[in-house]
Amino acid sequence: MIKKIGPEPYKIKMVEPLKQTTKSERKKLIAKAGYNIFNLCSEDIYIDLLTDSGTSAMSQFQWAALMQGDETYAGSRSFFRLKETVTSITGYPYVLPTHQGRGAENILTKMLIKPGTFIPGNMHFDSTRAHLQLKGGFPLDLVVDQGLKPEADHPFKGNINLGKLENVLKEHGRKKVPFVLMTVTCNSNGGQPVSMENIRSAAGLCRRYQVPLFFDAARFAENCYFIKEREPGYKERELIDITREMFSYGDGCMMSSKKDGLVNIGGFMAFKDDSLYQQACQLSIVYEGFPTYGGMAGRDLEALSVGLQEVLDVSYLRFRIEQVAYLADRLQEEGVPIVKPPGGHAVYIDGKKFAPHIPQSQFPAQVLVVELYIEAGIRAIELGTSAFTEKDPDTGELIYPELDLVRLAIPRRVYTNTHIDVVAESILDIYRNRDQLRGLKIVYEAQVLRHFTCRFEFME
Ligand code: F0G
Repeated sequence: MIKKIGPEPYKIKMVEPLKQTTKSERKKLIAKAGYNIFNLCSEDIYIDLLTDSGTSAMSQFQWAALMQGDETYAGSRSFFRLKETVTSITGYPYVLPTHQGRGAENILTKMLIKPGTFIPGNMHFDSTRAHLQLKGGFPLDLVVDQGLKPEADHPFKGNINLGKLENVLKEHGRKKVPFVLMTVTCNSNGGQPVSMENIRSAAGLCRRYQVPLFFDAARFAENCYFIKEREPGYKERELIDITREMFSYGDGCMMSSKKDGLVNIGGFMAFKDDSLYQQACQLSIVYEGFPTYGGMAGRDLEALSVGLQEVLDVSYLRFRIEQVAYLADRLQEEGVPIVKPPGGHAVYIDGKKFAPHIPQSQFPAQVLVVELYIEAGIRAIELGTSAFTEKDPDTGELIYPELDLVRLAIPRRVYTNTHIDVVAESILDIYRNRDQLRGLKIVYEAQVLRHFTCRFEFME
């Protein structure tokens, strides 16, 4: 049954016109783009679900705050305002802005990773994983087994496997494990939340083995909303209390503000401990900027400070999470195979099950991405065969990823429920005629990260 969705808890003050194209125009545009949605011009897109990162709509309070930006190199008033907000939410007194999430990742990994060390987490995001590896570390994804099964309907599929975590800590000890990273929500398996109980237990293990625990807090508010909704004992608690409790179990956090910061650019790190902060400040000066701006304009610090407070408004979060769930319900009602349950920021469709007549070598998820653009001008992204196929270094044989998914990431406060209905109906139309879908083949690919630039053609 489709759960009724609540109305938008805001009205629209400024509009951005959307260009409507015809199906025959879109057929030409996507062919010219080599059937790769990264080559499309955003003007030719009606609804853009490529990412929820940096795509939020700001509120009137954020736009007003921009005008108060203090653009000074050192000691900016806007920095102190942001620091106060971050400390009030996280409890961490030491705050360092960065230009975006990966700026924070660079600094933390440079500070703490020595070659040959292990960094356990529930599941590291791609850019985090790359930073860990670049510094010689070995990222370990220890998410619970249910987290890797698309059909497993578990409330906290982002949880870390505590037994595996303890084994790693016991085997390698604090000299070989510089820190543990909890990503909330867990983006790499669909925006799945981590329970408070799991965080508390992981923190207990970290304390026992004297290893610091950090959060990748890009979607901390969505995670805390899921705790409130799904975890016994939290229903009546205020979101801010839940958030503070969650952060209290860690030693610090890294944040891409482009998600739950409700801004278009920015990031930060925050620490409980002064000595870690001092080390981070030194690297910040080299890589990001003086520690009171860290690569951000004063006005952006102001907008972020407001965004971090707004994101904890329960009526906003309820609407946000319900909007994502509504899209999932509409698709599931007619049997579209999706990753269950939907996460906080996106719905994922299982490409292999959507079009089982298309072999994985012919990119079933990418076929759906292309059809969705042709059908309705909607941009989604394939996270599967084109993105994650590897080559056996000895035999050259292709090793396909287990999952071939299409991600529909929903930007925050941007699309109305009517837009979401258009997305659902377009996918359902394609699903009803899925037998007619044809596979794709790659006709150009780069050596690394091929999915960003490769070109496809339809099979004969
Ligand atoms: N951590 C998580 C969990 C993320 O999802 C991202 C970005 C980052 C770190 C890096 O932050 O982009 O500000 O440097 N995720 C985006 C996405 C790109 O589309 O999911 P950044």
